Amino acid sequence: MPTVAFVNPKGGAGKTTAALLLALGLAEQGQRVAMIDSDPNKPLVHWAGLPGRPDKISVHPAPMTQDIRDALREAQRKQPDWLILDTEGSIRGAMNFTTMRLDLVLTPLASSAIEALQAIKAAEMVAQFGKRGGAPLLHRCLLTRVPAALRPRSLKQVVEQLRESDIGILPTALIEKEAFRMLFSVGGSFDQLERHGVSGVPAARANAQGFLAAVLELLAQAKTQAA
Ligand SMILES: Nc1ncnc2c1ncn2[C@@H]1O[C@H](COP(=O)(O)OP(=O)(O)OP(=O)(O)O)[C@@H](O)[C@H]1O
Ligand SMILES: [Mg+2]
Repeated sequence: MPTVAFVNPKGGAGKTTAALLLALGLAEQGQRVAMIDSDPNKPLVHWAGLPGRPDKISVHPAPMTQDIRDALREAQRKQPDWLILDTEGSIRGAMNFTTMRLDLVLTPLASSAIEALQAIKAAEMVAQFGKRGGAPLLHRCLLTRVPAALRPRSLKQVVEQLRESDIGILPTALIEKEAFRMLFSVGGSFDQLERHGVSGVPAARANAQGFLAAVLELLAQAKTQAA
């Protein structure tokens, strides 16, 4: 069961949005996905309570560190094909899953120099966890909230900043999309957004599919290398 964690101690970096997009893409491919919502604000639990949640996706709350074990047990009962862990935007949140076997850690960040510095710190922290766990963790930064129309100069600079620190970047970025935000107020998946007349859904869906494809390819590569 592949396990993917979204980690960035910086609040509002785009973790929960990216976690849901990954889950929706996998569910569309017929995969059963269990999500652990370890944010005390429970954004994914809230999403799951709105109408239209695909039945392939289950959400398990762990608002406190001590709830994680129960949430994982509850998730396992669903016999998921994938486990997705959304963490709170704090150091505590980022550290919550350090003892688990993780196949991939993603650090979403927007294209600004300040966010890049924070993502570099997050990457260093993940590398430390890997060392302590005895095996390096597969980690990538995920650029998100990228303006759709033009690729700003700041984006290029951030990519250079991360590369200089030897930090891997997922080749597909997530675009700044109203449809991604609307998922959390309308609920459900892109189909549900379309039924509600939300604009820009096809482009948002295509972007999310590209993100999923990049994750799947990365995991497939990692598997080949490990074999
Ligand atoms: N690609 C995107 N397009 C449009 N809005 C986005 C995108 N990614 C994130 N947002 C918006 O940015 C805000 C923060 O995103 P999100 O909640 O996913 O971040 P987070 O890292 O999970 O935050 P926290 O650290 O508080 O858990 C939200 O209002 C969300 O709707
Ligand atoms: Mg969040």
